[in-house]
Amino acid sequence: MYTLGIETSCDETSCAVTKNCEVISNITISSLKEHKKYGGVIPEIATRAHLKNINRVFELALKTANITKKKIDLIAVTNRPGLIGSLVVGVNFAKAISLALKKPLIGINHLHAHFFAPYLDYNNKIKFPFLSLVVSGGHTEIYQVKSFNEIKTLGRTRDDACGEVFDKIAKAYHLGYPGGPVIDKLFNDAYKKEFLFKCGKIGFDLSFSGIKTALMYKKIQMEKNGEFNLKMKIKLVSSFQYSALETIIKTTLEAVNKFKIYRVACGGGVLANQYLRERLLEIEKQTKISFLISPKKYTGDNAAMVAGLGFYLYNSLGVTHNLRMKPEAN
Ligand SMILES: Nc1ncnc2c1ncn2[C@@H]1O[C@H](COP(=O)(O)OP(=O)(O)OP(=O)(O)O)[C@@H](O)[C@H]1O
Ligand SMILES: [Mg+2]
Repeated sequence: MYTLGIETSCDETSCAVTKNCEVISNITISSLKEHKKYGGVIPEIATRAHLKNINRVFELALKTANITKKKIDLIAVTNRPGLIGSLVVGVNFAKAISLALKKPLIGINHLHAHFFAPYLDYNNKIKFPFLSLVVSGGHTEIYQVKSFNEIKTLGRTRDDACGEVFDKIAKAYHLGYPGGPVIDKLFNDAYKKEFLFKCGKIGFDLSFSGIKTALMYKKIQMEKNGEFNLKMKIKLVSSFQYSALETIIKTTLEAVNKFKIYRVACGGGVLANQYLRERLLEIEKQTKISFLISPKKYTGDNAAMVAGLGFYLYNSLGVTHNLRMKPEAN
């Protein structure tokens, strides 16, 4: 069964084709460069880029998969959550294809797609229940997944998302955009405890705005003292990354122990982080917990995870939507 996946929730225009759960094409054009000078995504620019690119991305995804439109059996599109203007482009494109080809349509929750990524290409077998961890540019959430019909949010950030804070700190420190990959590269293990920053935590809920403010105050203080040089920035961001990621790991382990569920599916942009990936694998070796981590190529926004989850929901739960399906920003 061929599923066409469409993803336009933020600044990536992506179309993918999966054959059952195997990814046979996954094409993404990002408008990231156009947002760079602003240090964050500008919704209007993202929407216009989706409009410009979606048809080309779609054609390329089919060409790479070596199939014609007629071969498509199912259309899966991210319809929530995301930037409303961006979602509208993908959802309407998907509806048009569904109508023209007379093929079923399914609306996908982008966050569920992020934690479905480890199951693509049959890398892992789905076994319920499991916990899931999504750490991305807009969300930091821990779920209990009894089935894809029963997903309970155990905890989430009460303010900024983890990835967003990587981006904001890098912007304030003039390190570049997006901040996650830059800070990941600059991270130096020797400096991880140089500053003892703390993140907020209430039960399984998290808070990153306090650590962000602390990093901003440090910048002002260091600038006054003439100490805000690259080495100091590396010390500061290394201590930040260590604290933020270790807080997420600690909270996830608490959820594992409370619910006695020893499988954790992890996805979202921040899962590309080398330190985070290594720490999860290290914990896996020392405990009976299995961390199913999204392959790096599927951590950021991509349509492969949308197609894969669409295929799964359609086949195992018979989920479909009609043309009245709407994009939902939150
Ligand atoms: N190596 C890395 N280390 C840490 N963070 C990273 C890394 N690579 C990317 N990120 C962060 O991941 C985020 C982008 O992830 P993603 O594309 O999943 O977010 P989003 O789609 O904008 O948000 P959401 O999925 O919540 O809607 C950015 O904040 C980016 O800085
Ligand atoms: Mg995302």
